[in-house]
Amino acid sequence: MTADSLHFNAFIWPNGYHESAWRVVDDDVRGVLGLPYYAGIARTAERGLMDSIFLADNIAIAEYRVTHLPQTQFDPISVLSALAAVTEKIGLIGTGSTTYNKPWELARRFATLDHLSGGRAGWNIVTTITPLAAANFGEKAHPDHADRYERAHEFVDVVTRAWDSWDDDAIVGDRENGVWADRAKLHAPRFHGRFYDVEGVLPFPRSPQGRPVLVQAGQSAAGIGLAARYAELVFSGPPSLAAAVKFRAELDAQVVAAGRDPKGVRVLPALMVTLGGTEAEAKARAERLEELASPEFRWQNALYTAGLDPDAFDPDAPLPAELRAEGGSSRLQQLAAAARERPEAPLREIAAAITGGAGQVHFVGTPEQFADHVLTWQDAGAVDGFTIMGSTLPYELAAFVDHVVPILQRKGRYRTEYTGSTLREHLAP
Ligand SMILES: Cc1cc2nc3c(=O)[nH]c(=O)nc-3n(C[C@H](O)[C@H](O)[C@H](O)COP(=O)(O)O)c2cc1C
Repeated sequence: MTADSLHFNAFIWPNGYHESAWRVVDDDVRGVLGLPYYAGIARTAERGLMDSIFLADNIAIAEYRVTHLPQTQFDPISVLSALAAVTEKIGLIGTGSTTYNKPWELARRFATLDHLSGGRAGWNIVTTITPLAAANFGEKAHPDHADRYERAHEFVDVVTRAWDSWDDDAIVGDRENGVWADRAKLHAPRFHGRFYDVEGVLPFPRSPQGRPVLVQAGQSAAGIGLAARYAELVFSGPPSLAAAVKFRAELDAQVVAAGRDPKGVRVLPALMVTLGGTEAEAKARAERLEELASPEFRWQNALYTAGLDPDAFDPDAPLPAELRAEGGSSRLQQLAAAARERPEAPLREIAAAITGGAGQVHFVGTPEQFADHVLTWQDAGAVDGFTIMGSTLPYELAAFVDHVVPILQRKGRYRTEYTGSTLREHLAP
């Protein structure tokens, strides 16, 4: 395999990433609450030799969402542990919040997944945008954006110390002398920082990868800074090719400044994809999804994904002046910029122009066109592949695996078998 080998991550979202997906797919509406649904998707992604599947985590849902979207936000590690049992090779990436977990406990859960899956675990480090999370965790206030990222640095530092708390060769297994493991090979974190105090070692030996793979999807300067320091896989990326090339160059420069090698960082931006046998068919599928989209959902979702509580706003009034300032999360900045351009316009109009969620771009076309898109972006040096968000599932993922993957393989640009068995091995250039 050449240095140009592509990498793909499958974003699993109930019925697909488009908000109308659940209204057009065959699922009986409750299927997304059962393991067979996720197992089917994971096996399809593995059939396509993808590097990983990915599960997001939203630890507080604004209630408007239950009207418009399937709500299936299970604990990602529990789902991935079940999927570890029905797959063999594919990486298993789950999201975990640095604002609403304890680092030792999170280190333990991801290391457990790494053990149970034979070295396939990855952690998507998020700081959690929604302020609604605070009330679910008994906190009085949601820390602001800068504060969350400051904590995140210390949090990840502690997690990696916990993962490193057993040497690789600590297990002795000397039955005769009754020595299970060598105590001299333990390295307790004994960490005392600004936000966290963590003393002891993990309650089991080092996992197959040692450290599960670190993933980051922040889009703000602080998010990119965290990625540069720690991430081996980055999901974010701007929508245009020119901007993505620039983003990659800046990320690489920051990775170098953090004392790391950019070759150790894969960039797989999230991309919503709608495929069809012909261009007309793909367009018709995408148009059907858009026709069903709800303007009520759109304005509420734009606020929610910007870290605001939609229930606290009047959609027929302008965005309050104090929220039109610069700063805060990247999505809030987007909303604020739109409101500054049209200060008198009602919120629902401002928000309508901003698509919610992680997929900023929607690719619509044939497998051949999508293969060309992927290769053009990789050849320009912008990406190593993509995080594929099927607008509907399992249709788009199956179409990708059955029709796009063979094209990329024929061109010698994508693996024809898994050569490694851990997620980190899959991600190697
Ligand atoms: C592909 C992708 C997946 C994401 N998954 C999650 C998630 O599961 N949970 C979450 O709270 N945020 C998630 N985010 C949001 C990011 O962590 C981040 O908060 C957001 O991109 C805004 O960036 P900023 O925090 O640097 O402003 C995701 C973003 C992207 C692009």
